Amino acid sequence: MQSQRPRRNRKNEGIRQLVAQTEIQAKHLIYPVFVCEGTNLEAPITTMPGQSRLSPDLLSKKISEWKKLGLNHFALFPQIAETKKDSRGTEALNDKGLLPQTIKRLKDDHPEINLITDVALDPFSSDGHDGVVENGKILNDVSVEILSQMALKQAEWGTDWVAPSDMMDGRIGAIRKTLDQAGFTDTNILAYSAKYASSFYGPFRDALQSAPKFGDKKTYQMDPRNSDEAVREALLDIEEGADMVMVKPGLPYLDIISRLKEISSVPVAAYNVSGEYAMIKAAAAMKALDEDKAVMETMIAFRRAGASAILTYFAPQVAELLRKQQV
Ligand code: PBG
Repeated sequence: MQSQRPRRNRKNEGIRQLVAQTEIQAKHLIYPVFVCEGTNLEAPITTMPGQSRLSPDLLSKKISEWKKLGLNHFALFPQIAETKKDSRGTEALNDKGLLPQTIKRLKDDHPEINLITDVALDPFSSDGHDGVVENGKILNDVSVEILSQMALKQAEWGTDWVAPSDMMDGRIGAIRKTLDQAGFTDTNILAYSAKYASSFYGPFRDALQSAPKFGDKKTYQMDPRNSDEAVREALLDIEEGADMVMVKPGLPYLDIISRLKEISSVPVAAYNVSGEYAMIKAAAAMKALDEDKAVMETMIAFRRAGASAILTYFAPQVAELLRKQQV
């Protein structure tokens, strides 16, 4: 007879609830949203079924609904017209641009929410790269200068968190210093520390029409074959002042989340990116799996791996399911 029977702890729902080590709640979620110019405008994103670019007024209305589900954190991604893009991403510093308008509108309507804004040149750059390009090369230090100015502008406009997603060297330290010198000591930094050169960003680049015009992002985003380098990047970012470090993409990189959780003195976030969203949506559309269950399992996997926060396009769906406690 066996004395060791692990199945005893799984024998009914009550026991399974009692011994469960991981949980997910709406408070763990950050919802990445796309903003476009205009009023009362919703432009669906074909490759991300269920997600749209929204004009600031409509986004604000929807946030009223999402708040009721317990969602409180929103990452803003503006879609910039091609005619406003240039090689230095000048539009990123425009006080009258789409991003400052949106931040103001959302903060006026919902002072209690947390806004997270991306610091990288790609949505504003005519080259579609995260930094400044010269002779086919991405210039590090010149880019860091501009990114610091961009972060400062975003802080002035009222963002709660700046999230450098550019992967230039030394940008966290430079941004922290710039913010502090201007008195923005309370603005948090969410560092995209382990951001990989990934094929899973496709739908996001469709949504913002921000794909690189030439080459790829391999000289700054990380090589998917590497793991030690993620530790190095995260430790540097923490030393330079990051308040949270992020791993991106999420699902194919759970090992990295778990490793960073072990070594990090600040919380770790996971970005469940656009391609991961599109995969589940496509599989569900062909009835290959139960979408709600697959989504919740995915969220639990991030939490089990060690993520405190999860950026996910599934945020409203997850929050709704949690409210109904259907999964
Ligand atoms: C911009 C940025 C990207 C994403 C978030 N910030 C695209 C990229 O690096 O090319 C991707 C997010 C997603 O795919 O959901 N630097």
